[in-house]
Amino acid sequence: MRKTVLWVGIFAVLVLSMGVLDIEVSAGESEKLLARAIADYLVAGRTVIAVNQSIINDPSRGDSRFTPSVYDTLVRHEFRTLTGMDISDLHKGSDDPFASNLRSLHESAMGVISMFQARINRPGGGFKGVNPAMFGTWVGQNFNRKTGIILKQTSLKYRATYNQPDDFEISILKQYESSRKATPYYEETLENGKTFARYIVPLYITSECLACHGEPEGELDMTGRAKEGYSEGQLRGGISVVVPVGGK
Ligand code: HEC
Repeated sequence: MRKTVLWVGIFAVLVLSMGVLDIEVSAGESEKLLARAIADYLVAGRTVIAVNQSIINDPSRGDSRFTPSVYDTLVRHEFRTLTGMDISDLHKGSDDPFASNLRSLHESAMGVISMFQARINRPGGGFKGVNPAMFGTWVGQNFNRKTGIILKQTSLKYRATYNQPDDFEISILKQYESSRKATPYYEETLENGKTFARYIVPLYITSECLACHGEPEGELDMTGRAKEGYSEGQLRGGISVVVPVGGK
C-alpha cells in the first residue's frame, strides 16, 4: 500500500516537472523575453533623450552636461522602473544570450552617446542632430551589426527608407490604428524556413513630438524634414524588434 502511494507520488512529481520543463524550453520563449527587454530598453533610452532635450539643445550649456555617464545613470533608472531589471546585473553570467545581448545593446547606446558628445557640447543654439529618433536609429543599426537582431523605429508615414515597415509591421500598425489604445504585440513568424520572434511596441504622439511631427503638414521642422501633421494622441508608429529563434 505504502509502495503504491510512493510510486503515485513519484509519478505525479515527474508529470509536474515535465510540465514545468516544457514551459521553460518552449521554442521562442527566451527570445520573446529578450525581444521585449530590447524594446523596453529603447523606450527607456528614448525617454532619457526626450527628457533632456532642452539641456542638449541649450546654447549656453556647451559644457558636457549630458555625458555618457549621465546617460548611463538615467537609463539604468528608467529601465529598472520599466522592467524591474538592473543593467548592472547583466555583467554576471556573461554567456547567457539574454544578458549578453542586452549588454551589447547598452554598450551600443553608450557608444552613440559618446559619438553625440561633440555635437551636444557644441556651443550655439538650435538642433544638434540629437533627438530620440536619431538616437534610436543609431543604436538600432549599431546593435544590429553586433548581434544580427533587428531593432528599428517604424511608421506607416516613415521619413527614412531604413525605417520603412515590412509587411508584418504594416499589418500590425494598421491594427493599432484601428484600436483606441494599442498594446505591445508578439508573434513568432516563419520566413524562408526560419523562425523569428517579433515584438512591436506602439508609439503615440505626445506634445514633445509636435515640433517635428505636428501641424501644419508639409512645413519643414527644425531638422529640415516635412512635418506629417499629426495631433496629440495619434499613433505615430512603433518600435519593432526581430530576434532569430535559436540563434542567427
Ligand atoms: C527634433 C525633431 C523631432 C522630434 C521632437 C521627434 N522626432 Fe520623430 N523623427 C524625427 C526625424 C528627423 C526622424 C527621421 C529619423 C531618421 O532619419 O532615422 C524621425 C523619425 C521618427 C520615427 C521613425 C519613423 C520615420 O518616420 O522614419 C518615429 C516612430 C518617430 N520619429 C516618433 C517620434 C515620437 C513618438 C516623438 C515624440 C515623443 C518624436 N518622434 C519626436 C524628428 C523628430
